[in-house]
Amino acid sequence: MKSIVISMIAASLMVGGSAMAADMPDIAKKNSCNACHAIDKKVVGPAWMDVAKKYKGDATAKAKLTTKIMKGGGGVWGAMPMPGNPKLSEADAGMLANFVLGLAK
Ligand code: HEC
Repeated sequence: MKSIVISMIAASLMVGGSAMAADMPDIAKKNSCNACHAIDKKVVGPAWMDVAKKYKGDATAKAKLTTKIMKGGGGVWGAMPMPGNPKLSEADAGMLANFVLGLAK
C-alpha cells in the first residue's frame, strides 16, 4: 500500500513538472510562444495538439500557419487574435509550423 502511494506521488510529480513545456523547441520559448500556448492544453491560445488535429491532412496548413505565426490574426479559435511575430524569419516560422503540425497523433 505504502509503495503504491509513493509511486502515485512520484507519477503526479512527473506530470505536474514541466515535462510537456520542455518539449517546446527553444525557438518557441525564445519567442514567448509558451506565454500563450502549451503543447497539450489551452492557455490564451489553443493547445498545439488541438491545432495539429484540426489541420491534419490539410496540405495548405503549413503555409497558412507559417503566415499566421509571422503576421498574427484571429477568428479561427475564438475572439482573441494572436499577435504577429515580425522578428521571426520565415524559415523559423516554418519550422514552428512544422513542429505544431507534427504533434497530431
Ligand atoms: C499573446 C498570446 C500569443 C502568443 C505570444 C502566441 N500565440 Fe499563437 N495563438 C494565440 C491565439 C489567441 C490564437 C488563436 C487565434 C485564432 O483564433 O485564429 C493562436 C493561434 C495559434 C496557432 C493556430 C493558428 C490557426 O490559424 O489555427 C498557431 C500554430 C500558433 N498560435 C502558434 C504560435 C507560435 C509558434 C507562437 C510563437 C512564435 C505563438 N503562437 C505565440 C495567442 C498567442
